[in-house]
Amino acid sequence: MNPPDPFLLNGRQILITGASSGIGKACSVLFARRGASLCLFGRDEVRLQETLSLIDNPDNHCSALVDLTDYKHVADAVRRVVKERGPISGIVNCAGISTTLPINATSEEKIEHFLRTNVVGPLSLTKQVLKPGNFAPEGGSIVFISSVMGVAGEKGKTLYSLTKGALISSVRSLAIELANRRIRVNTVSPGVVDSPMSRSAVYSRDDEALDRIRLLHPLGLGEPDDVANACLFLISDASKWITGTNVVVDGGYLAK
Ligand SMILES: NC(=O)c1ccc[n+]([C@@H]2O[C@H](COP(=O)([O-])OP(=O)(O)OC[C@H]3O[C@@H](n4cnc5c(N)ncnc54)[C@H](OP(=O)(O)O)[C@@H]3O)[C@@H](O)[C@H]2O)c1
Repeated sequence: MNPPDPFLLNGRQILITGASSGIGKACSVLFARRGASLCLFGRDEVRLQETLSLIDNPDNHCSALVDLTDYKHVADAVRRVVKERGPISGIVNCAGISTTLPINATSEEKIEHFLRTNVVGPLSLTKQVLKPGNFAPEGGSIVFISSVMGVAGEKGKTLYSLTKGALISSVRSLAIELANRRIRVNTVSPGVVDSPMSRSAVYSRDDEALDRIRLLHPLGLGEPDDVANACLFLISDASKWITGTNVVVDGGYLAK
């Protein structure tokens, strides 16, 4: 008999934030194909339904309209999901926002907004899922989507780097804290991926600027699926001995 495929997610409930777009949407479609039961979080009903429409057996999955910066609402949504559908075995914290802004154009409010959306929101959601009875007793895996901007710098990326670097460093400590529950925690750091986020970035407004960004990636720009494949690896048992690390998926951006 063949050994079981370690990339299969049968019998696991995985919560994905940012499921309405880009990388989160790609993770949702891929994980469902691998047998997971999904809980999709997003803010926009129409866009979330669009993701669900790409997935077979919609009854195996659920969705919730959640703004991650509304911490109380997030806690209620997690409680409801577990009550109705049972414990969660994995999270992909994919939702996030980006900007290119020189430091003199930032404000304290803007800095707080970025921290709330990209750091406090995902950590608060993760904390709720880790509460007794909410996470599968046999353990599982948690992924935070960071960015190459969490370890490298570019002009105008101070705010974004602040939030993405915070995820990379806090994941190392969280991984150690959760190892005795057999819960693994890692970040994935993509380079520029073709998604609504990058399409609305300043560098996408003219061909020359976009070419410059493209040239920074020896393998060219990525697709959401390139990142989703790495997330599947980290969420599944294929990575059962990997925790507290940052997996770079960047077409060679950081190799130089
Ligand atoms: N694209 C890239 O080049 C790139 C590179 C490196 C890292 N990343 C990271 O990868 C992740 C996904 O990016 P993407 O390219 O897929 O971006 P995207 O297409 O813009 O999707 C972002 C997702 O985050 C959700 N979101 C934003 N703010 C939220 C909030 N306050 N509460 C709940 N959901 C919220 C959005 O929901 P709505 O549909 O409701 O707006 C959307 O589903 C982000 O963390 C991003 O920083 C992206």
